[in-house]
Amino acid sequence: MNNAQEKMDKIISLAKRRGFIYPGSEIYGGLQNSWDFGPLGAEMKTNIKTEWWNYFVRRRGDMVGVDTALIMNNKVWEASGHLANFSDPLSECEKCHRRFRTDHLESGAKCPDCSGDLLASRQFNMMLKTYLGVTEEKASEVYFRPETAQGMFVNFQNIIDSLRIKLPFGIAQIGKAFRNEITPGNYIFRTREFEQMEIEYFIPAPKKDSDWQTHFESWRVDMQKWITHIGIKSDEIYELDLPQNELAHYSKRTIDFEYYFPFGRKELYGLAYRTDFDLKNHGLKYQNHETGEEYYPHVIEPSFGVERTLLAAMCSAYTEEDAPTSEENETEKRVVMKFPKWLAPIKIAILPLSKKDELISISQKLASDLRQDFVVAYDETQSIGKRYRRQDEIGTPYCLTVDFDSLTDGKVTVRDRDTMKQDRISISESAKYLKEKMAESI
Ligand code: GAP
Repeated sequence: MNNAQEKMDKIISLAKRRGFIYPGSEIYGGLQNSWDFGPLGAEMKTNIKTEWWNYFVRRRGDMVGVDTALIMNNKVWEASGHLANFSDPLSECEKCHRRFRTDHLESGAKCPDCSGDLLASRQFNMMLKTYLGVTEEKASEVYFRPETAQGMFVNFQNIIDSLRIKLPFGIAQIGKAFRNEITPGNYIFRTREFEQMEIEYFIPAPKKDSDWQTHFESWRVDMQKWITHIGIKSDEIYELDLPQNELAHYSKRTIDFEYYFPFGRKELYGLAYRTDFDLKNHGLKYQNHETGEEYYPHVIEPSFGVERTLLAAMCSAYTEEDAPTSEENETEKRVVMKFPKWLAPIKIAILPLSKKDELISISQKLASDLRQDFVVAYDETQSIGKRYRRQDEIGTPYCLTVDFDSLTDGKVTVRDRDTMKQDRISISESAKYLKEKMAESI
């Protein structure tokens, strides 16, 4: 087994054991490539979405948010070009009938599973179909959205009317998207149901290329900063300018931010220049009331996947290092998830040194007080060393140990996840102290 595969296996096992990610429908034998997020995974997804919303919407003056329907009128998908163009090339094995993405195979390849001959490649539309209403007939066929973007385009006029907003400005949305992927896989990397965080940034119709390129470059920098913010180093990312023949049907230029996942360098996020493709096809113009000019705005689109954010953040945070034990000159391996503090699912663990009533009661009171501001874990089982390791493994930034001295001096020991340094702080000041510490990573 190679190191990369080994690392991936360790992350998957930790994620299952500690409640980040479970196989979907597990008690019924699972459902291919479907995953459920456990208590810690749900906390992290919430942290990602909230922080992204604060970062790209609330802290900027040129962004607004929406939350639109998952199922839209079929005319949306006609106009957006998804019905005609949202497809991947598919190769089917003549013998075992397994299906593969043609562009993921070498030219002239045989079936990777049974070595049978592959039938001629054809285009396969990835829109996921269902029926709306009680009759399952052609007329009631609809699609789950394959991108959140169209909900923002079709509401462009509504938003202009409601807010009297001027260009340039952006609309953001976070929500589920569905794709009937030919080859889902690589854990939560490619699934048929996933969440996107997308921005459609509307700019005046460019008079020259540099007009859109300036906005494109500015978003490229903002995306790089966000990537650093989630704990990914710049050398873990490769920015791929897609060649013309690989661009989506709506794009004039796309940069894929590729991350070095243990299973290969693959797309984490995308930044596209969608021109006026969408608004023109929906017939939605913008009127500049000062000049009277009317035109179709152009669009720069930064697009982010929630699950890929979580997976890349977990891969970057996963660390194995030597740590001292209670025995002199002895070390043991410790696994630490070095998440940025804002991203960690649990922020603080309260650990009473003994199960004596008087320690338990102040510990529980402290946990309940701190829960007003933080996600707090409480753990009173096993040795303190084992409890530290358990918190390290899920990335908890601070452990507070309550001991017998706490009864007299009103203080607790705070231990830092990364440095393992310990400090003594007063219980009454602990919320303030931790708030200041947490703010250091935002
Ligand atoms: N609106 C543009 C758009 O949807 P995309 O590159 O197809 O562009 C954007 O998707 C992002 O959504 C990707 O960069 C990735 O983070 C995420 N994504 C796309 N397909 C996915 C899948 N099958 N499973 C998980 N995430 C996916």
